Amino acid sequence: MTGRPAVTPLSADTGTGPAARATVVRVENVSKTFGAGAGAVHALREIGLDIGEKEFVAVLGPSGCGKSTLLRMMAGLEQPTTGRVTCWDDDPRELAARHALGVAFQDPTLLPWASLRANVEFVYKVCGQRTDRDRVTEVLEMVGLAELAHLRPHQASGGMRQRTSLARALVMRPRLLLLDEPFGALDAVTRHRLNDELEAVWSRTHVTSVLVTHSAEEAVRLADRVLVMSDRPSMIVQELAVPLERPRPPASDPVMRELIQHCLGALHV
Ligand SMILES: Nc1ncnc2c1ncn2[C@@H]1O[C@H](COP(=O)(O)OP(=O)(O)OP(=O)(O)O)[C@@H](O)[C@H]1O
Ligand SMILES: [Mg+2]
Repeated sequence: MTGRPAVTPLSADTGTGPAARATVVRVENVSKTFGAGAGAVHALREIGLDIGEKEFVAVLGPSGCGKSTLLRMMAGLEQPTTGRVTCWDDDPRELAARHALGVAFQDPTLLPWASLRANVEFVYKVCGQRTDRDRVTEVLEMVGLAELAHLRPHQASGGMRQRTSLARALVMRPRLLLLDEPFGALDAVTRHRLNDELEAVWSRTHVTSVLVTHSAEEAVRLADRVLVMSDRPSMIVQELAVPLERPRPPASDPVMRELIQHCLGALHV
């Protein structure tokens, strides 16, 4: 890394910015207000961003700033009050209808009576397709669940349930993966391990990904680019490219530390 600035302004050509790739997600001048009058909540204000093909973008921001709202718009689950969100120039709902979106949230809702494997297989039923058992086995291996997939959710740990959620999101080979704090409820050690596994999965698939997180370390560990949002009404106050090869060094590495501190600084402005 000598001679290369650790904290690269996004305008610099790092090869990881959206300019270097075809655009997958485009957020144009998006504002979102919930409710009206005195009780209105202005969640997002004039957000604009592009996410490139095969890019991994992390969205970091304080609680309640509108990160989930933004992700839900990319998933076609929420509509902007003004502005526009498109995926491959199309309405995200079209992408969702073609099962090209993989989504995982903080609290996975698994079918309690079904095994972890059956929970992943269930995605085929929802999509009206025949179960591809080899593909299910493949993703279960990818997320480190191969040996334990016979367990039911109540017999599984929080980490195993999150792995199942990730396997469900990946099984249909999505073109876009949306992750909303998938590891937020886990203890630090399990979270760290799952970060490593997600990094390995991403290095294998290179699926265009957006990760919402509260953790600057998680953002820098996983993403090509970190977007930091302000408090409500939220704007993007910082964009940071992460110019490090994968697998990324530990958080104690000086470059990692500098990048993490930079994100934390932007968070606390
Ligand atoms: N359906 C809704 N109706 C009314 N207000 C909403 C709705 N969804 C979100 N909000 C409000 O919009 C704001 C942003 O919510 P959002 O869930 O997007 O924040 P967040 O950044 O994901 O927060 P956290 O980090 O705690 O998950 C919050 O004030 C929330 O209460
Ligand atoms: Mg949220």
